[in-house]
Amino acid sequence: MNKQTIRDLPDSAVRGKRVLVRVDFNVPLDDTQRITDDTRIQESLATIRALTERGARVVLLSHLGRPKGKPDPEFSLAPVAARLQELLDGTRVTFVPATVGADAAKAVQGLRNGDVALLENTRFHAGEESNDAAFAQELAALGDVYVNDAFGSAHRAHASTEGVARALRPAVAGLLMERELRYLGGALAEPERPFVAIMGGAKISGKIDVIEKMLPKVDHLIIGGAMACTFFRAVGMETGKSLVEDNRLVMARSLYSRAGDKLLLPSDATVAPAIDRPGDAHAVPRDEIPAKEAMFDIGPESAAAFANVIAGARTIVWNGPMGVFETAGFDKGTRAVAEAMAAATGAGATTIVGGGDSAAAVADFGLASAMSHVSTGGGASLEFLEGKSLPGVVALDDRAS
Ligand code: 3PG
Repeated sequence: MNKQTIRDLPDSAVRGKRVLVRVDFNVPLDDTQRITDDTRIQESLATIRALTERGARVVLLSHLGRPKGKPDPEFSLAPVAARLQELLDGTRVTFVPATVGADAAKAVQGLRNGDVALLENTRFHAGEESNDAAFAQELAALGDVYVNDAFGSAHRAHASTEGVARALRPAVAGLLMERELRYLGGALAEPERPFVAIMGGAKISGKIDVIEKMLPKVDHLIIGGAMACTFFRAVGMETGKSLVEDNRLVMARSLYSRAGDKLLLPSDATVAPAIDRPGDAHAVPRDEIPAKEAMFDIGPESAAAFANVIAGARTIVWNGPMGVFETAGFDKGTRAVAEAMAAATGAGATTIVGGGDSAAAVADFGLASAMSHVSTGGGASLEFLEGKSLPGVVALDDRAS
């Protein structure tokens, strides 16, 4: 990575300074505003601690949800601040119900060395998503140094992720950002081989760019999930009531012929009459999906074949579940892939799980810590693997070469 990080900051730029840190605290909340998965908060602790231990006055910025440019209590970061205080025992964490302006400035002014303040949702202001220069300036005025640790939002060119870095220097990466770029970037740049990519999920349309980008680089491309059915249909198989993207058949056919031996599709499918009937699930060969049933998971033969390829790999990148893993009965394929990856990690392979559904699956199975890296970015990790540059990263200071 050619970007500077908080490690490159001299103590004179940290001790007693207001360090404005963009984190991605866009965490899932239930109806009672309880956080249902605090992974993103946990993953930001290393950067926050590294700064407070060096005597910084840490000012945190984040968005939460999509409140459409105006205040909406449903998307307040207050519950996140409460959780952060629990996790940062011994550190004073203040929630500031303003993002910019006099109240925010006053709260920041009241910080002592080693304190942390979390400002209210950046998306309560229209200038955030429009990357308004004046709003970016208002944010910049709250800090002496800018740190971007929000990998999950780095694909957004917003005021708190991009504009502010132009208004406030130094502008450097946090430790999570650094780790994400190291793992995802390393897999693309110089993977130890065999290099295997596993793609899953419902639709090929959302993953086609990443598949195209990975295909020339990988030794094996495994495709599971409902998107496999679009391939089945593309080569003339019966897919019953399975989800098929009819407008992607040409694309799937082209990929199928270009990929040759690299492409590994499921040889069997776990099917059922409906998604709410996992009790009726049964496995069939892939070319025998009954007309009145749909594929909701890969079959056991495919799971074993995929696990076998994973066991022989040295670098594995996984994005997208093999089936409806949230439902017992349709979770076996995803679980088999997660377990095979965990075993591969133990055997010295580098295993990387893209964010979103596959990250949720490994967390559900209790296997997150058994992976080399689980990305905190859903859209961001996909865009990065597609080879796109991330505006939130581009804006940071380069390392002197
Ligand atoms: C995410 O969850 O992918 C990021 O926090 C970005 O959120 P967004 O898709 O609402 O911009």
